[in-house]
Amino acid sequence: MIKLILIPQTSQIFRSPQFQKKTLNTNTENDLNEVNYLRALNESGYALRLAWKHLDVRKLIEVSVINGNFKYHPELAKAFISKIDNLCNSALQDSLIYKELNFFFKKLLENNNLEDSLTLENSERIKYRAKQVEQMLENTKPTNLLDVGCGDGAITNEVMNTLGLSASNVIGLEILPRSEAVKSFNVQMYDGKVFPLPDNSQDLITIFSVLHHADNPEDLIKESFRVLKPNASVLVREFDVCTPELQIFNLVMDHMYYFVYLPYPEMPIPGNYLSEKEWTDTFLNVGFVLDRSINTEPNNPYKPIMMKFKKPK
Ligand SMILES: C[S@@+](CC[C@H](N)C(=O)[O-])C[C@H]1O[C@@H](n2cnc3c(N)ncnc32)[C@H](O)[C@@H]1O
Repeated sequence: MIKLILIPQTSQIFRSPQFQKKTLNTNTENDLNEVNYLRALNESGYALRLAWKHLDVRKLIEVSVINGNFKYHPELAKAFISKIDNLCNSALQDSLIYKELNFFFKKLLENNNLEDSLTLENSERIKYRAKQVEQMLENTKPTNLLDVGCGDGAITNEVMNTLGLSASNVIGLEILPRSEAVKSFNVQMYDGKVFPLPDNSQDLITIFSVLHHADNPEDLIKESFRVLKPNASVLVREFDVCTPELQIFNLVMDHMYYFVYLPYPEMPIPGNYLSEKEWTDTFLNVGFVLDRSINTEPNNPYKPIMMKFKKPK
């Protein structure tokens, strides 16, 4: 077993300073030596192939394939995993592997009529998220909602209905327009940095799976603090990325989602994957107070967390 210290300056992918401090336990049998690893981080052109050779990271990828899109179809999960294995044993660069996987995934969907089960899984996920919001709020009723990085707006819409808010009191902010967006509330495009909203105006902010996609997550946290009313809350969903293995896993899976499954290649993937403690510290440094934090799905390999921070009175 060798301990590998990642050199921060060489990494174009992981911009977070916290990443510098992490060390990686790697195993020579995994054929993942220091040179390879740094190359993967540096160029990202071979990150998937190298991740696949690392047994712990590979296990995480396999679990997420089995529990994700193919939850109700274990035989298809097996076929997809075997395709990844095949491609990772070739000399192809990641970009070509993702292209091939996208083609294979589309064929699997078509040949097995999977659209319905994906739609069902998506609607379960949306309902689950809205329920979580309700639980985290513990009977408090916000009068308005700002959803930062609302994506297609499906979760925002469900949260709006669950909390009994009218559409005129809901705003979504985005940097990328979505053709398939839910149109029931106002979505504003903005520069990704400064919220187009007055100080002390918002009762509840949600930021779900957005911060690790933001070029500078701290901008969004500071802006949330500025526009929230005193004593109001921001709810944040992120992953507790507390080991380098989980960093590589997240990097690979973000590419898998946005190049293979959805696909949505415009999605920024700056790789800001922080641990729960690092996220918490970043919010506390801006002036927030931690209200509560829950590990929402203990068996999920991403280790999702839902955190609630309050702006002090
Ligand atoms: C993984 S999606 C999450 C969408 C939605 N919140 C959900 O939970 O389904 C991340 C979203 O963050 C958006 N995003 C990235 N950087 C952003 C920024 N600086 N400000 C607002 N949204 C941003 C992306 O365009 C993308 O729609």
